[in-house]
Amino acid sequence: MSVLASPALAAPSALVGSDHEPIEVQRVHQSAATPPQQTAPTRPLIAVSHRGAAGTAPENTLAAIDEGHRLGAETVEIDVQLTSDEEIVLMHDTTLERTTDVAEVFPDRAPYDVGDFTLEEIERLDAGSSFDEEFAGEPVPTLREALDRLQEHDMNLLLEVKEPSLYPGIEHQISVELARSPHWLVPNAPGEPHRLVVQSFDWESTEYSKSLLPSVPHGLLGQVPKDRIVDYDWAQMINPNHNSIDADYVAAVQDAGLEIMPYTINEADGMRRVLEMGVDGFITDFPEIGQRAIAEFLEGRVDPAVDKEPEVSEESVEVVS
Ligand code: G3P
Ligand code: CA
Repeated sequence: MSVLASPALAAPSALVGSDHEPIEVQRVHQSAATPPQQTAPTRPLIAVSHRGAAGTAPENTLAAIDEGHRLGAETVEIDVQLTSDEEIVLMHDTTLERTTDVAEVFPDRAPYDVGDFTLEEIERLDAGSSFDEEFAGEPVPTLREALDRLQEHDMNLLLEVKEPSLYPGIEHQISVELARSPHWLVPNAPGEPHRLVVQSFDWESTEYSKSLLPSVPHGLLGQVPKDRIVDYDWAQMINPNHNSIDADYVAAVQDAGLEIMPYTINEADGMRRVLEMGVDGFITDFPEIGQRAIAEFLEGRVDPAVDKEPEVSEESVEVVS
């Protein structure tokens, strides 16, 4: 994956503002050589590997990111939230109970809200056993660890900010974390998959995040009414539930210059359905199935009259004796 040169990114330390200087990050990125891209109609279709690769590994762990890589995914989706000491960790639910052994380790701390635990406490939890004993001891990773692992694998990231209203300031924390590595802030060239997209169901938070990270594409999770899509001209993507869309909605999003990648589709039939609608990609727990569906869809699109030698049937051959 190529990283575009940008004078604004030559000195990474300049990008990292203190907790009280979010505007510093904004100012530097506004001067980046590559402006935000509104449309990218030529990017390849993407099967985004959901929560790491939640179909075959414990969600939102480094093991799941490794699994997505092993399965050939180019892009993974993860969810992030803030600990009580303002560290960013990977977690889908706003409580720790479903995916970790928090109730055993901290029996008196119900309801186990993520924001009630320090990073040190969360790092003592097992986030693997609830999926499968094979993953026993797999920890809850920090965003920093996930970014480093993704970079090692040369993978792209769809980053969901989960319930940001519970974590005032999380957008700024994330912008500072991303600014540690210019890699994440430089948009890919048109025609390549996005290196990073930040998304949330909380559109106000997403707009604020976009103001902090103008070079990074941002996405709205959920369904923006067709007649209001134009109001979100600062966004680059709308990612609704796959059950809520049809071809007209897909066209409305794309006509407004945004991309659309519905969630979460785990069966080939459903993938084919949204591909026929014209989506830019989709989100799946099973990236291998997703990639196969995309390959088959693209093969089906090939016009045999253009791309293949004409076949000669027995009937059409005149036999001269
Ligand atoms: O990326 C979209 C998808 O992850 C949203 O649903 O509940 O799995 O976070 P959820
Ligand atoms: Ca998610």
